[in-house]
Amino acid sequence: MKLAPADFRRLLAAARRAQRRAYAPYSRFKVGAAVLTVSGKIFTGGNIENASYGLTLCAERVAVAQAVSAGQRRFKALAIVTSAAGATPCGACRQVLAEFGDCVILCAATGRRQVQQLRLAELLPRAFRF
Ligand code: THU
Repeated sequence: MKLAPADFRRLLAAARRAQRRAYAPYSRFKVGAAVLTVSGKIFTGGNIENASYGLTLCAERVAVAQAVSAGQRRFKALAIVTSAAGATPCGACRQVLAEFGDCVILCAATGRRQVQQLRLAELLPRAFRF
């Protein structure tokens, strides 16, 4: 199922705002993410890099952590905004999202009109679970 136009717009706007707050002094690749819960709330995050590189947090996982910390675990959709057309959430973020079930994934690039609309289950079929 696709996302309602109003949800689509406000989720992307939230991801764009989050991208501006990303902390990416090493890669200079800022990512903004926003998750929409089934209750209609939006939680956002930007990537947070670290001098040790490996401790970097992806934007998607920051947004998920914000939502889960606020008691929200049912997601309708997640949007990301990057500077690269065709960028999608990394494998680790896909697995973290899959923990909370399938959802719509929107991928947008700054300065481009086209937004890819996918489902998490397409990006990560047969996610790990036990
Ligand atoms: N990054 C994300 O925030 N999300 C992804 O799904 C992939 C990559 C960040 C991590 C790092 O700060 C920068 O993008 C370059 O890899």
